[in-house]
Amino acid sequence: MFENIDKAYEYIRTVTDFKPEIAVTLGSGLGDVADEIEEVCAINYRDIPGFPVSTVAGHRGRFFFCRINGKNAAFMQGRVHYYEGYPIKETVLPLRVLHKMGCKTLMLTNAAGGVNFNFSAGDLMLIRDHISCFVPSPLIGENYPEGTRFPDMSNVYDTKLCDMIRSTAAELGISLKEGVYMQLSGPNYETPAEVRMCRLLGADAVGMSTACEAMAAVHCGMKGCGASCITHLAAGMSIKPLSHDEVKEIADIKAPQIKRLILECIKKF
Ligand code: HPA
Repeated sequence: MFENIDKAYEYIRTVTDFKPEIAVTLGSGLGDVADEIEEVCAINYRDIPGFPVSTVAGHRGRFFFCRINGKNAAFMQGRVHYYEGYPIKETVLPLRVLHKMGCKTLMLTNAAGGVNFNFSAGDLMLIRDHISCFVPSPLIGENYPEGTRFPDMSNVYDTKLCDMIRSTAAELGISLKEGVYMQLSGPNYETPAEVRMCRLLGADAVGMSTACEAMAAVHCGMKGCGASCITHLAAGMSIKPLSHDEVKEIADIKAPQIKRLILECIKKF
């Protein structure tokens, strides 16, 4: 059942004995955040046996291992999504591999549509909590033995890490919104009626990733946190039709600021 985790782990150990303390998943258009950091080792997902490989433009598809201020950090430059046809369980395989490598903390980033009318394109949103019950739980099926069968989800986005990210953003002069992220299956964007539903249910941003990964991370004992790059307001909230090109374009523009925030946070994790 979980053989692919072992297979991937064993392959990585033939390449490097790197033990990440913190891992950062870089979402759509944010893959370049790791550029210019001196690499210890990089491994393409496609070279790892049993590893899911992203088919989405804007996702590079590799692990990038490096040292930042004396800390071992792993960047995931790209992730796989449920809408690509992978069972949701498989979308969380990479972070279980990172956990097996020794990682204790996971920071998730993504590009998301703003559902809250107080948000604008280009805002950064600290994820305080999520709604994931519109996609299947990645924990369905045989229990991954690193965690309990019925895991508590009351602190998925660790309060202390959220405080630290908040204060770091303030120190850097980066304005940070906060809110609840809702994961839907995609790949289609929502209808305006669905966006109204998301808002009524308490979501501030909507996207197609992240919540399942955060749940699996917490299940296996990692501390989680995350931030969304609000690349546009969700469907029906502006007159512009949504496009993945626009998502990548805004994420690209925001990437340097997100990079500063991530690097500064890594020093404090
Ligand atoms: N909806 C869902 N997923 C997204 C969006 C959106 O508006 N923007 C970026 N990812």
